[in-house]
Amino acid sequence: MNKHLHPIFDRFLQRADRERRLRQHSKVLWLTGLSGSGKSTIAQHLERRLYNEGYYPQALDGDNIRSGINNNLDFTDEGRRENIRRIAELSKLYVNSGIITINSFISPTTAIRQLAREIIGQDDFVEIYINAPLEVCEARDVKGLYKKARAGEIQGFTGVDAPYEPPEKPALEIRTDRQDLNDSVRVIFEFIEPIIKYRKS
Ligand code: ADX
Repeated sequence: MNKHLHPIFDRFLQRADRERRLRQHSKVLWLTGLSGSGKSTIAQHLERRLYNEGYYPQALDGDNIRSGINNNLDFTDEGRRENIRRIAELSKLYVNSGIITINSFISPTTAIRQLAREIIGQDDFVEIYINAPLEVCEARDVKGLYKKARAGEIQGFTGVDAPYEPPEKPALEIRTDRQDLNDSVRVIFEFIEPIIKYRKS
């Protein structure tokens, strides 16, 4: 083959080009945990911290995903699986754009998280368990949904009448009933910084 003829994919910018421009290595930080465990709050603060330190992150959570691209999905097993499958596919696009993606979704089962891991790729998938006991999440009841679930107004609520399977070997576990928000964000930042810090290769 003529060496000047390249397949078309060779002409697209590569992830490495984008990482060089953004001066970071991209990853998907996958925050899993019960509703009310603190995933979204941590994600917001972590996103801000990364940005302030010169990184280029993007947080995805129910507010920008379940209200938009996934607004046709429910909370059945199948609905949750499809929710996570699409989020994983989106995250893969982000990571190939060189962007550090922070995902906050309950992602309640080992199988669902395994699906995400397979789509994104083991090397780019960083599983972070945001752990607080159910009683604590329920006492916080930030959105008033546990009360509704106990009253039978919502069916299949995670932790009440739908399962949450804790990750067996997360890359990191944060106990939000024992650590305050600043500590939680700092621990994740210090864990992730050596991984995303740009290294000339
Ligand atoms: S997941 O299970 O598919 O990963 P996701 O993180 O997108 O869930 O959405 C969880 C949020 O949806 C909860 O924080 C809560 O506000 C809301 N929600 C509504 N119905 C349910 C339900 N049956 N189970 C869990 N969360 C629910």
